[in-house]
Amino acid sequence: MAALEPKNSKAQDNTEGEIKELQKSLPNETWFVWPMYLYQGLWCLKYTLEGVIAFRTHFQAHDSDIILASLPKTGTAWLKSVLYTIVNRKGLSSNNFSQHPFNSKNPHELVLNFEMQVYNNKLENHLNLTEIPSPRLFASHMPYSSLPHSIKTSKCRIVYVCRNPFDTFVSIWHFYLRFEASEGIKPDMEMMEKYVDKFCTGVSPWEPYEDHVLRYWKESKQNPQKALFLEYEGLKKEPKEHLKRLAEFVGCPFSEEEEKGNVIDEIIELCSIKSLKEMEVNKSGKVVPRFENKAFFRKGEVGDWTNYLTPTMVEQFDQMLEKLKMAGFCFEYYQMNSKDEAPN
Ligand code: A3P
Repeated sequence: MAALEPKNSKAQDNTEGEIKELQKSLPNETWFVWPMYLYQGLWCLKYTLEGVIAFRTHFQAHDSDIILASLPKTGTAWLKSVLYTIVNRKGLSSNNFSQHPFNSKNPHELVLNFEMQVYNNKLENHLNLTEIPSPRLFASHMPYSSLPHSIKTSKCRIVYVCRNPFDTFVSIWHFYLRFEASEGIKPDMEMMEKYVDKFCTGVSPWEPYEDHVLRYWKESKQNPQKALFLEYEGLKKEPKEHLKRLAEFVGCPFSEEEEKGNVIDEIIELCSIKSLKEMEVNKSGKVVPRFENKAFFRKGEVGDWTNYLTPTMVEQFDQMLEKLKMAGFCFEYYQMNSKDEAPN
């Protein structure tokens, strides 16, 4: 079935009935409790399909836009909090941050995801995108190749964060088992094996891990003004250097005075998992009906996967990493040879 076409200038224009018809015609799979549909090469969770279509059809990028791209569970909320603070720091209570919006809003409410929030008509957020002051900050999980044309052709900037696939998977595993609807599910080794298999063969939201990473990485190499490629592990290891790079890339470099005044350290501290976890707003409440705020802040460590994955599972991830290596990709901050770290 062909892509649904817009009928008018509104962002959300496909009726629920049309989306249901479309779903019936698409290959489908399950991702934990959610149906997932293969739409134009993308595995879209049921609740994202409508938003994906509307986003691709309608979004008009501005040259000043900043877009955070990532696969789920690779540090999106962390990067949202860092980016938001860097870009808005001048207006935030003379840099002491006590009145920071993080006290009342989860980072996902401050930097909206296109396909799940901006173009989700069930949220009725009545956003007028043209009225948002620049630079507008948005986020997306969509692969580079599926982004709307205007993002690629305008001068807007893309920040991509990637995380080693082992920890990404373990984070996914914990996150999706937290859904209320998952309460009846008793996760066991067989189930984990099934999802490792899906993840490592690319039957997981949005496109195969290695393709997602590679395309953004290639763009960052070919067009460094356009895309900045960051690693979760690098941010953990050298946060200050990363924040400086990020601030420069988005056109808000730190002044000498700010550097001397410890502004960078304050932002690192404010956006740390410990600090975000302790915010009342992140202890309760939901960012959109299905996501509890606290689910976004678990351990935030590098290497937690060694507590979960078996050597057989690790083999599957290693094969995936092999494909990345063959394509010339290498993590700067993550040791690609996992064998030494695998549990017995
Ligand atoms: P873990 O489940 O391994 O702890 P996303 O935001 O893309 O959904 O990613 C979620 C992962 O990022 C979770 O990993 C979460 O704990 C971690 N995370 C959230 N905030 C973080 C922060 N400020 N610093 C480091 N990691 C963070």
